[in-house]
Amino acid sequence: MFGDNLLVTGGCGFIGSNFIRYIFSREDFRGRIINVDALTYAGNQENLIGVDKSYPGRYFFERADICDPSAIQDIFERYDIDTVCHFAAESHVDRSIKRPVSFIQTNIIGTFNLLEAARMRFTSGRKFYLFHHISTDEVYGSLGPQGYFTENTPYRPNSPYAASKASSDHLVRAYHETYGLPTTISNCSNNYGPYQFPEKLIPLVILNSLEGKPVPVYGDGKNVRDWLYVTDHCEAIAEIIEHGRRGETYNIGGHAEMENISIVEMICDLVDELAPSETSRRRLITFVPDRPGHDRRYAIDFSKINTELGWSPKESFTSGLRKTVSWYLENKSWSERIINGEYQSWIQENYEQR
Ligand code: NAD
Ligand code: DAU
Repeated sequence: MFGDNLLVTGGCGFIGSNFIRYIFSREDFRGRIINVDALTYAGNQENLIGVDKSYPGRYFFERADICDPSAIQDIFERYDIDTVCHFAAESHVDRSIKRPVSFIQTNIIGTFNLLEAARMRFTSGRKFYLFHHISTDEVYGSLGPQGYFTENTPYRPNSPYAASKASSDHLVRAYHETYGLPTTISNCSNNYGPYQFPEKLIPLVILNSLEGKPVPVYGDGKNVRDWLYVTDHCEAIAEIIEHGRRGETYNIGGHAEMENISIVEMICDLVDELAPSETSRRRLITFVPDRPGHDRRYAIDFSKINTELGWSPKESFTSGLRKTVSWYLENKSWSERIINGEYQSWIQENYEQR
């Protein structure tokens, strides 16, 4: 039960494109997907190459900015949208520290516009199945050495990115409480896997180590993240859309807590194994000044989604990381095409000033 016309926002990004491929691969999904993406630096239509041909008449792409209310309302009308799965966001913490404005626009105003379009449909009595909002564990702030984020952990966002996602979560909640809009929210930990833009830790380390460039580790490298293979996240989202209780929030995590330095060493070793060179890639590891306000540790308690919906991650971190490194080695042309002028100037701005 996904509805007939599923609007996916941000479907040309990392998780959104994996989600569209995953949903189409399910035999119980017979509807249409309308992918709305502004194609910012992080959006790449190449991530979905072949999907329109594999699923004729069921995949539609609309280049539009979620901050443009009339464009969004028009898309709701033209495609008779009855379900929303909202990924579109500015997603990189370091960028939010340097230039927060687009985070406020897209993550808060953009979410508001989508909620308004959904509300108009819902309150006028037309079929509206669900507004599912994709959020992050970063809204909860930082953990000490013990404990986990649950759905009841108070919000304490520490970066402009996290604060903008927290704001959007509050709006989604309010639309359920005030207007009865059927909504669900998921707060997920760090994803990794194919098609992730190489500004994020795992693909950045894979590509830099492959090219013999310095591998930057912030601070002491002992910050902890809880890693989840992207397809596991997609399965969890599908479970929530189908069976999640309306008005509820579900935490999603990998039970795979790792210090950054351990991940970086694992990747260097995997790259050595899969693309041998004369000296170990570990020699490229370079400690650089820390991210301001850097959250120390994230760890998710996903017992609610496990108990209510029977979801748990399938991929182990070791097998998922190997798959991911192999994917980047086999798809070098994908990364070569996106490492363009914008990406180069970001690398210069973020790393050369540290
Ligand atoms: P991404 O940066 O790879 O992709 C974001 C997509 O949104 C891009 O295709 C971009 O073009 C599009 N977009 C940005 N601004 C837009 C706008 N104004 N209008 C329309 N489209 C716009 O992000 P991702 O890593 O795939 O993350 C997707 C969602 O999942 C985000 O909401 C993020 O907060 C959340 N999330 C990500 C992770 C993670 O580890 N990557 C973990 C938990 C939650
Ligand atoms: O927890 C979920 C969040 O995970 C998502 O909401 C965000 O969209 C996603 O970007 C991710 O945020 P992080 O800040 O945790 O991911 P990132 O890959 O940027 O960094 C992971 C860790 O690695 C973090 O502790 C910072 C560190 N790091 C990152 C980069 C890019 C480095 O040490 N060196 C680097 O060059």
